[in-house]
Formats: sequence, structure tokens, C-alpha cells
Amino acid sequence: MIDLINAVKTYETGTRALNGVDIHIDDGEFVFLVGQSGSGKSTIIKLLTGEIKPDGGSVLVNGYRLESIRRSSVPYLRRTLGVIFQDFRLIANKTVYENVSFAMRVIGASNAEIKKRVPYVLDLVGLETKARRLPHELSGGEQQRVAIARALINNPTMIIADEPTGNLDPARSFEIMLLLEQINALGTTVMVVTHEKGLVDRFTKRVIAIEGGKVISDGMDGYYNYEAE
Ligand SMILES: Nc1ncnc2c1ncn2[C@@H]1O[C@H](COP(=O)(O)OP(=O)(O)OP(=O)(O)O)[C@@H](O)[C@H]1O
Ligand SMILES: [Mg+2]
Repeated sequence: MIDLINAVKTYETGTRALNGVDIHIDDGEFVFLVGQSGSGKSTIIKLLTGEIKPDGGSVLVNGYRLESIRRSSVPYLRRTLGVIFQDFRLIANKTVYENVSFAMRVIGASNAEIKKRVPYVLDLVGLETKARRLPHELSGGEQQRVAIARALINNPTMIIADEPTGNLDPARSFEIMLLLEQINALGTTVMVVTHEKGLVDRFTKRVIAIEGGKVISDGMDGYYNYEAE
């Protein structure tokens, strides 16, 4: 569950990136976060993952209060979140299987748990035949599915994806979005940041539009008055 109340963030440069943001997202929801470049979307993501702290208002994520969270608690918050980055951030010299299993190893999962869980998740994202491949032997869409598998591997309550289809062609982007929709149907909350109006309009989902560090619309009617660049 996400609860941002009047969240304010001013960077050290003096840029006020968020100017009183209120967003409530219940467990199990699928939400698109849209807005022009520089509107504050990534800043919201960074607040939710504990990378930065708000300097006003309150931010509650999966029971963690982020304006006052201790540094030592941030890893526990992050275990409840699966974060997917636009640039994949895969480990180049590790296979698909190793990239995904590594995320389980670092939190101390047993070999038996890893052997059971990794094939299940690779199958879920449609990469069961690619487990032994290295990232550079995969297409962009396949690499993105490895990143999704890695985000899912520790069974997070919530998936947060910042521009997960930024480098993909429209057909691959649509497939990735269908996959995230399927993951959501299995019970995981999903938040997707995107610029792609055409993609958002192909789904009937809640759309939160950000402009100038504020929420300008929030609802099921698509893009409202948000105009893609
Ligand atoms: N580390 C930083 N230091 C100073 N200003 C920053 C920093 N990160 C972002 N900003 C500024 O804060 C504002 C919001 O940036 P943010 O990265 O949240 O935008 P965004 O909506 O994610 O944009 P994009 O679609 O281009 O990724 C912008 O004016 C940006 O220049
Ligand atoms: Mg951004």
C-alpha cells in the first residue's frame, strides 16, 4: 500500500521537484504514472524506494514510514518492492538464470529454494528456454523480461517499473505491458511510469498524471488533458 500525503521534495539545487503530492494506492491495484519529462515521476519513485527522503509531508510504503525510516530498515522495505529500470541493469557476464538467482542469493535464500523458484519465474515471463543465455545474446524485449523476472523473484508485494518499455518497439512494449497485467492478476500491485500515451490508451487502468510536481488528474479515463510531447 502506498500513501503519499502532501509530499514535497526540493533538491539541493533548489529545484522543487514535488510540490504537494497526494497519491493513495491500495494493494492489488494497477496504476500508470504519466507526465512530461521533468514533471517529477522518477522523484516519486525514488521517494517510494527510500533513495531520497521527502522534506515535507508523509510517505508510507508497505508499512514503512519513509520520512523517518532508519537507513538500516531500507533493505527490508526494498524486499517488499520489485523495481524495474529502463536500462535493465543486468549483469553482463552472468546468464539469465544467474542474473535472476543472484537476487535470491543476496537475501540469503537456500539452494533448494532457488532451484524451485527461478524456473517458475522464468517460465512466468516466457524465458524458460533462455536460462543459459547471456544478456547480449537476447533481444531488448527478452532482456526486459529478465529484469522483470529479477524484480519478481523475491515475491514482492509491489512492482514499480520506471519506463519499462522505453527502448522497445510498440509490439514488444505491448507484450511487456500484458505481462505486467498478468503479474498484477496474480496479486502483485503494479505501478508503471511511462511516456507512451498510445500504450496507456490500449489498457483500461487507473492513470495518475503529474505536472510540475503535482497530481493534475487521477482516474480511469485515460490521459485526461495530459499531452505527450
Ligand atoms: N538529483 C537531482 N538534483 C537536482 N534536480 C533534480 C535531480 N533529479 C531530478 N531533478 C529535477 O527535478 C525535476 C523532476 O525530475 P524527475 O527526474 O522526477 O522527472 P521525470 O518526470 O522522471 O522526468 P523524465 O520523464 O525525463 O524521466 C526536474 O526539474 C529535474 O531537473
Ligand atoms: Mg524519470
